Amino acid sequence: MINEEKIIVMDFGGQYNQLIARRVRENNIYCEIVSYDTPIEKLKEMKPTGIIFTGGPDVVYQKDAPICDKQVLELGIPVLGICYGAQLIAYLKDGLVEKASTREYGRTEIEYNTESLLFKDMKSKSICWMSHTYQITKLPEGFKGIASTENCKIAAMESENEKLYAVQFHPEVLHTEQGTKILSNFLFNVCKCEGNWKMDTFFEKAVKEIREEVKDGKVLCALSGGVDSSVAAVLLSKAIGKQLTCVFVDHGLLRKNEGDEVEAVFGNNGLYDLNFIRINAKDRFYEKLKGVEEPEKKRKIIGEEFIRVFEDVSKEIGAVDYLVQGTIYPDVIESGLAKSAVIKSHHNVGGLPSVVNFKKIIEPLRLLFKDEVRKLGLEMGLPDNLVYRQPFPGPGLAIRIIGDITEEKVKIVQDADFIFREEIAKAGLDKKINQYFAALTNMRSVGCMGDERTYDYAVALRAVTTTDFMTAEVARIPHEVIEKVANRIVNEVNGVSRVLFDYTTKPPATIEFE
Ligand code: XMP
Repeated sequence: MINEEKIIVMDFGGQYNQLIARRVRENNIYCEIVSYDTPIEKLKEMKPTGIIFTGGPDVVYQKDAPICDKQVLELGIPVLGICYGAQLIAYLKDGLVEKASTREYGRTEIEYNTESLLFKDMKSKSICWMSHTYQITKLPEGFKGIASTENCKIAAMESENEKLYAVQFHPEVLHTEQGTKILSNFLFNVCKCEGNWKMDTFFEKAVKEIREEVKDGKVLCALSGGVDSSVAAVLLSKAIGKQLTCVFVDHGLLRKNEGDEVEAVFGNNGLYDLNFIRINAKDRFYEKLKGVEEPEKKRKIIGEEFIRVFEDVSKEIGAVDYLVQGTIYPDVIESGLAKSAVIKSHHNVGGLPSVVNFKKIIEPLRLLFKDEVRKLGLEMGLPDNLVYRQPFPGPGLAIRIIGDITEEKVKIVQDADFIFREEIAKAGLDKKINQYFAALTNMRSVGCMGDERTYDYAVALRAVTTTDFMTAEVARIPHEVIEKVANRIVNEVNGVSRVLFDYTTKPPATIEFE
């Protein structure tokens, strides 16, 4: 059986809820995040093997503090409370939580009782990560303290009989030296998990579920060539083969060779058995973008034209039953746990579902994190270059060309970008830099080539490291690599006389130029 083991993370508003879920999955145990107010009956139906309460910014006695049903602690299912979650266990079990005389924040020395199942096979003294103002000051009946710090006498407690555990610190963050061990102790020693959740089990289950849902229905997938939509498409094709039609709109604003690469994988002579339609709509897009300089206007035009192209194709395909979306777990969490069906407004082909006549959306990756999506892609035989593709914006090169778009400018960016990517890969940096590309400044400057005076464009290189793309650092690339890229671009790309490197972080700059 698949998914026999399941850990439920109850979210009390902590900033680390996703991280906790990640840590559980790293132990090959399936895990889902639910809101703290999930009704007890629903929770029972989910048949969790164990439950983890996250931290949160509130204080248990405060009005409107998130409090879950007390019965959660009476199901006989192991519970681990973290930070606020620990205090909540104390509160629900009639212990005492009080404001600490000294607020604890950051790395803190801690002493564990290694006889507890939670701290088994660990060093008794080490460092944990604390972040709290309130703390447990009186143990509930049946509990005993199992860890302490200088300022927090009950840094952890347990009621072994009831299988309830609580830690004031954060085992999920790497600053807690033995945190990973604590979580795996909870999962394997307390919850008695075996850790049998793997990508191949996910794959088998997903294929089975898709077949049951779709039956002999017709499914449409808008394929962008990005990781999520590619993996979703392959999964669907493995499940339902030719019942799937993938539509790939090439708007002429893709990176060099990208359209052909996507076609090589998904097209008729490609790796998978599916219907593939490539629409070469370059002329339509360029025509609509002619003379348009304003960034948001360009985005809007591209978004709208995408829909028009799609409308035209879908007329030919006829009514479809299902539309595939490459939504992944962080999108589900970000759009609100209870509202996971909300369609991403920032989806690459924004607005698409409203114009296609379909019954239902299928989101086969909605329970996976990005690295799990990649793993699944590799297991299904997707080539590395697609699986590890850096993010690429829906409007494509249009927002990497400052000002109006012409075919000539697109070609310059494509060629310059290709050289940049090639050299980054050669230097072994391609998996270390999260996003890197060439952009075309709308600036022309004087140069000299041979004995000729030139008056050509300046290309800008941008390379950033980031985890969430909300903030970004400038990637450190050896000078020799940049120098080589600059040399090659001015020598090999017609129309470029200067190469600049963008040294701005985000904020204040954005990652893209427009
Ligand atoms: P910015 O430029 O806002 O980019 O710092 C953050 C991330 O979002 C991507 N991006 C977009 N993706 N449509 C998209 O699908 C867009 O209009 C768009 N604008 C930016 C960008 O590539 C980066 O990864």
